[in-house]
Amino acid sequence: MPIRQSIQPLHAYVPGEQPAGQDLLKLNTNENAYPPSPKVFEALGKLTSDDLRKYPQPTGKDLCEAIAQLHGISAEQVLVTNGSDEALALCTRAFCEHGGRVGYLKPSYSLYPVLSDIAELEKVEFPLEADFSWKMPEQVDVDFFFLTQPNAPTSLALSRSQIEELLQRCSGEVLVDEAYVDFADGSMVELMKASDRMLISRTFSKSYSLAGIRLGYLMGPAKLIEALYKIKDSYNTDIFAQRVGLAAVQDQSWMLQNVTAIRGTRERVAKALTVSGFSVMPSQTNFLFAKVPEGEDAQKIFEALRDRQVFVRYFPGELTGDYLRITIGTDEQMDRFLDELDSVRT
Ligand SMILES: Cc1ncc(COP(=O)(O)O)c(C=O)c1O
Repeated sequence: MPIRQSIQPLHAYVPGEQPAGQDLLKLNTNENAYPPSPKVFEALGKLTSDDLRKYPQPTGKDLCEAIAQLHGISAEQVLVTNGSDEALALCTRAFCEHGGRVGYLKPSYSLYPVLSDIAELEKVEFPLEADFSWKMPEQVDVDFFFLTQPNAPTSLALSRSQIEELLQRCSGEVLVDEAYVDFADGSMVELMKASDRMLISRTFSKSYSLAGIRLGYLMGPAKLIEALYKIKDSYNTDIFAQRVGLAAVQDQSWMLQNVTAIRGTRERVAKALTVSGFSVMPSQTNFLFAKVPEGEDAQKIFEALRDRQVFVRYFPGELTGDYLRITIGTDEQMDRFLDELDSVRT
């Protein structure tokens, strides 16, 4: 058999559906409904033939420096990556020996088990309670921990003191995946600065409205970041991602304005859903995780919405099977969502 034995039993990550069509409402992959900064398009317009002909900066130096400045750290503490997914994958290769133990919450980002399998690591799942809180064990006995903060799909954030506790109880490296943090009340960057074992990953896919360019970054102690530089692809981000990312980072007010709009819409939709009988988790993200009213079937609602070209996400399973995950779009989009939801429930 020409395929390596360890690859044969693997299951690829299944991303949210990317349907194509005219009249569809796509609230299933937590993309940003607002456009990216106009500065992004200016940057693209300035690309020259030479920019395309030559290789890009191998480390995305200019972008790294801008990110470092944004967070008040040194450029040696930053690694830019091909989506934050690449950052997560690099960590599984750098911080665990073969057969090492990787921890993550269940439910959380479903890519973690896939990456752990690819790296041939032992998966250690830490189940959440029925209300999606975490009773952290006295010892978190793993070599590396993926913590989605705020969590997906639950939309909830742990407190800073819980994360400090995790750092105390886990002797391995802890990666805090802050994909949604711009929509939350606070980040763990200050905690990361004070730790020699904590890393943070960020993405341009959500708050910066740039899922299409595949750009993310990692921040952490220079010693750990240096290790990751040794194993990354030579040119892991291209010239488009580097220039677009730089323009986006330099236009914080655009990003923050969109985030403020989404947070406002999020609260309005959460109230509307609550009034119609859903139990809505207090979201710190750009999506809502909402339990359907008693006696209703989440999967059926999901399918009925889908038939009407309204795409949300449904995660079958004991803990999540009564919930829908709904990305927050524009006010207009969410009005349509609420109307369509009413129609499929009556
Ligand atoms: C928790 C979490 N981390 C990381 C990512 C991936 O981000 P990127 O698009 O930068 O690969 C996602 C995407 O949905 C996510 O939900």
